[in-house]
Amino acid sequence: METLRAKFQQRNATAAVIGLGYVGLPLAMEIASAGFNVVGIDLDQSKIDKLKEGTSYIGDVSEKTIASAMKIGRFTPTSDFSVLHDVDTVSICVPTPLSKSRDPDISFILDATEKIRKYLHAEQLIVLESTTYPGTTDELILPELESSGLRIGKDFCLAFSPERIDPGNTAFNTRNTPKIVGGITETCTEIAHIFYSQFIECVIPVSSTKCAEMVKLLENTFRSVNIGMVNELALMCDVLGVDVYEVIDAAATKPFGFIPFYPGPGLGGHCIPIDPHYLAWKLKALNFQARFIGLAAEINGMMPTVVTTMVGEGLNRFSKSIRGSKVLILGVAYKKNVSDCRESPALDVMRMLIEKGAILSYNDPFVTSLRMNGKTLKSVDLTPANIQTQDCIIILTDHSNYDFRKIIAASKLVVDTRNATKDLQEFKDKIIKLGAGNNVASAPSHEDEHESLTANQASH
Ligand SMILES: NC(=O)c1ccc[n+]([C@@H]2O[C@H](COP(=O)([O-])OP(=O)(O)OC[C@H]3O[C@@H](n4cnc5c(N)ncnc54)[C@H](O)[C@@H]3O)[C@@H](O)[C@H]2O)c1
Repeated sequence: METLRAKFQQRNATAAVIGLGYVGLPLAMEIASAGFNVVGIDLDQSKIDKLKEGTSYIGDVSEKTIASAMKIGRFTPTSDFSVLHDVDTVSICVPTPLSKSRDPDISFILDATEKIRKYLHAEQLIVLESTTYPGTTDELILPELESSGLRIGKDFCLAFSPERIDPGNTAFNTRNTPKIVGGITETCTEIAHIFYSQFIECVIPVSSTKCAEMVKLLENTFRSVNIGMVNELALMCDVLGVDVYEVIDAAATKPFGFIPFYPGPGLGGHCIPIDPHYLAWKLKALNFQARFIGLAAEINGMMPTVVTTMVGEGLNRFSKSIRGSKVLILGVAYKKNVSDCRESPALDVMRMLIEKGAILSYNDPFVTSLRMNGKTLKSVDLTPANIQTQDCIIILTDHSNYDFRKIIAASKLVVDTRNATKDLQEFKDKIIKLGAGNNVASAPSHEDEHESLTANQASH
């Protein structure tokens, strides 16, 4: 591995990134900025065409960054896998979704591995970055690559290094977020460590690929379980007549042993609602039931039903029903200041309200249109005139550029699932806030819960 080690240290290696999405594109830019030549490979020709035109489709990657990397020949986007023949390192950043039966779908990883195997050569490093269940790297990728006749740790290296990117986070990016690496052999870990250290400030080696895979699942399961716990706490506070946000903020003054998590309309994004299921699935195959994961999924999965119940209760105050009422959703992306709608709980809330007969519209400054029940919905303008005609406004994602004071002033009824109205006490009579002691967001009945899970599953 002497040649590879030297190439990384002198930064004259060529790197490939497979999968140019939220993870792969920022990674490719970071590797290029360190002086490496990077080829970015994606099956989606429309993404390759956009990149060749210098257009970015990822909020955290500027067009200027892409253009300057391409101009000096540091970044070449392509859909041609034969370029792998000439690269020194390959980072796999393909999706890892759930199948219709909510089992891990690792077909994208397997597809990428087959293509890598075809061009695998001596002095090459392969790194899986996609989140997956413990054992994927050594049980699936390693045998496939070894079937080439090349020897692990001697001819080529294989490692797992989980991506931790947090889209929309302005403080932490690929470069300054510490990175875990675990190789199949010690040499694999060392070589991967040297590679990543060229463009990431802090690289932390662990003893195996399985450990590195488990680190990522711990991080995301930790979030899922804590969000589930605090969502249940919000429902408890609603019954008790206590404001959950006041409770959390007061608890957060404890300087040790407490990390604040906040309730919301449900889990979203490509990670937190999905990754714990990868872990639970693997454990189930080993006859172990991951109970916290199941419970958190159950509670988080019923939150869209809770929101729908709050809307019904609010309209009831005006002797109105959901059927026939005009309801405007604010924010459909799964979290603030991003455009990503994958697994967004807003989609579940919208589907339920449409099923119940609401006249539904939405506004999201980051999402101009979305597909719902086979139709395309377009984000409507947020004018005072439009707000005044609505029977209910639901705040599902509290994007920073919403002027909530103006919005609430013009509205009749607001359901706030994000504590976005915390400083607007003067409007409290028209606001129903999740977990604020209104006693309207109580846990749905068993039948409602069934409906929630069905709706949730339909969305995946
Ligand atoms: N999005 C996040 O915030 C985030 C954070 C950490 C980890 N992850 C993990 O990183 C992985 C990638 O996630 P993402 O959000 O970047 O996904 P994405 O859907 O944004 O991008 C994946 C890209 O891979 C391409 N692709 C699929 N199969 C391919 C193949 N065989 N060859 C070449 N290209 C292929 C797709 O066309 C797509 O452009 C997932 O495992 C995810 O769980 C995501």
